[in-house]
Amino acid sequence: MNDYSPPPVLSAGPTEYTTRGQRQLALAARGWFAATAIGQLLFVAFILLFYYFHILTGNYAAWDARPLITGYVAGDAPGNRQFAIHVLAAAVMTLAGLLQLVPAVRRNWPSLHRWSGRTFLVMAALLALGGLWLVWARGSYLTLTGAIAISLDGFLILGFGAMAWLRARQRDFMAHRRWALRTFMVASGVWFMRIGYIAWGMATGGAGIKSGMSGPFDLIWGFATYLLPLAILELFLRAERSRPRAQTAMAVALWLCATVTLAGSIGAWVMMWSPYI
Ligand code: HEM
Repeated sequence: MNDYSPPPVLSAGPTEYTTRGQRQLALAARGWFAATAIGQLLFVAFILLFYYFHILTGNYAAWDARPLITGYVAGDAPGNRQFAIHVLAAAVMTLAGLLQLVPAVRRNWPSLHRWSGRTFLVMAALLALGGLWLVWARGSYLTLTGAIAISLDGFLILGFGAMAWLRARQRDFMAHRRWALRTFMVASGVWFMRIGYIAWGMATGGAGIKSGMSGPFDLIWGFATYLLPLAILELFLRAERSRPRAQTAMAVALWLCATVTLAGSIGAWVMMWSPYI
């Protein structure tokens, strides 16, 4: 079916690794996942405490307490409804996606893995289609380049998600794992965008960021927000099958990613999310 020889790092147990490089890579992958889980749980906490709270209490206009592109518009029932569906689905998808990457769930509760996997893929598709509607039908974008960038992310979510589902149906689980991880990366694109802005802002003081998201950093980050994590994932998938030196180098890179992820996530919580709840 394929030429995957060593145990996949994110699904095998720590005792299944034989070489030092594999153990280093496995540990770094877990470190990156722990940082990502913390950051995504903070994002979910914000969505629940801000958007769920205002939707459940019927106070849609309160969304605009945040600097949104369009947000709530009085009299625009279809647009407001789509926005509400979008943010409600965002929390469910993010939680289901995290659950998919926990090795113990896959090993011990395969039926939970299957159901949360279906939930993740359906919600990701809903977010991508609804997001495309918000951009092109409602007109929620600041620059045309930004609109194209987020739309490409939407198409990648749909394409990669379909491949992950197809490979699982075909019981080609190694290929399924690769496509599922790619789907996780592109579906996390909007989260990477937020924590990336904060991490970049903290590191450079906001170089290349302009109002209306029209600065050089804004335009590049619009695409890199999902293409960079995808590229790092591809390097990781190759490193799994590579020589120990490549595995050690990849492990170092992943620890660096984990550090930036954690710093960006904590910064996003402090500056972007918690002030509104
Ligand atoms: C798949 C994962 C996605 C998640 C988790 C997600 C999450 C969110 C959240 C939480 C918001 C509220 C804005 C905020 O408070 O920051 C939002 C708004 C929005 N999203 Fe998404 N989204 C996703 C995908 C997409 C895609 C693929 C597109 C476009 C193709 C998109 C387009 C939009 C638009 C246009 C808004 C409205 C912005 C505004 O009016 O200010 N989203 N999204």
